[in-house]
Amino acid sequence: MINMENVKLSNGLVMPRVGLGVWKVPINATAKMVATAIENNYALIDTAKQYGNERGVGQGIKDGLAATGKSRQDLFLTTKVFNGDQGDYDRVRQAVNQQLQNLQTDYVDLLLLHWPVFNRYNTSWRALEDIYRDGQAKAIGVCNFNVEHLTNLLDHATIKPMINQIEFNPRIHQPDTVAFCQGQHIQLEAWSPLGNGQLLDNPVINRIAKDKGKSPAQVVLRWEIQQGFIVIPKSTHVTRMQENADIFDFTLDADEMEEIAMLDEEKHTIWYDKYKWSGNPDGVDDYIACDGTF
Ligand code: A2P
Repeated sequence: MINMENVKLSNGLVMPRVGLGVWKVPINATAKMVATAIENNYALIDTAKQYGNERGVGQGIKDGLAATGKSRQDLFLTTKVFNGDQGDYDRVRQAVNQQLQNLQTDYVDLLLLHWPVFNRYNTSWRALEDIYRDGQAKAIGVCNFNVEHLTNLLDHATIKPMINQIEFNPRIHQPDTVAFCQGQHIQLEAWSPLGNGQLLDNPVINRIAKDKGKSPAQVVLRWEIQQGFIVIPKSTHVTRMQENADIFDFTLDADEMEEIAMLDEEKHTIWYDKYKWSGNPDGVDDYIACDGTF
């Protein structure tokens, strides 16, 4: 039986099942969004250097903790290593020190490699292992790694990633990666769990939502957590934030799970081999694509 509200990672760290993603949230809106989430009992916040809003997240955490009387230990903060910092041990460590400063914290609960940058991720991972050993990250992991990337990483790693954060929702299932991670006890986490909101007018999802007395977003998120995923939906609206966290009082049966699974198109939102990471408002002008081109 899956524990629905929390997940225990392979190193014993307990992580919330539902969190707030802040991809594409402008820095000046981020602080308010994060503080509002904390006030509404969100514990997991997921950011990245690439999002350019880590300072906003840091401010939002400060404000949210002040408003609620909670402490840093009550939160689970995730950030990620930027592609442009990858491949050089010292650069990764320096970048993470700066990220911690921007986040106004001594540690993150989870530090992830944002993308499997060709020829660079094994060196980056060595830095993450030492960051973990030094206590600057309570857990470490990767994002967007497929079976080939993971196999290569495991050949070089001394610490196995605790998380693989991948694009996952009813339209994209990545079954080989999912099976591999499950076999290796690497916890799966879904980014864009609502398919960027584009799934929510689907008739099948709307019919099931009506039957359950829940919203389409709640049905989609429930479908994901019932398969063992952690989910980090993004919303700037407080009512939607509340809605997205309220998914523990109903169950989808096997037929409903299957019907939603039939929506699979195996279609990525971002074709990451070609995606150039640039224009970071935090002043980062390096960019690099995952195939190693600049
Ligand atoms: P908004 O920020 O205006 O609420 P994903 O996390 O899959 O990338 O999806 C994020 C998108 O889904 C955003 O456009 C967000 O819009 C929208 N969204 C998030 N939660 C809900 C919800 N409960 N109902 C409808 N749309 C939602």
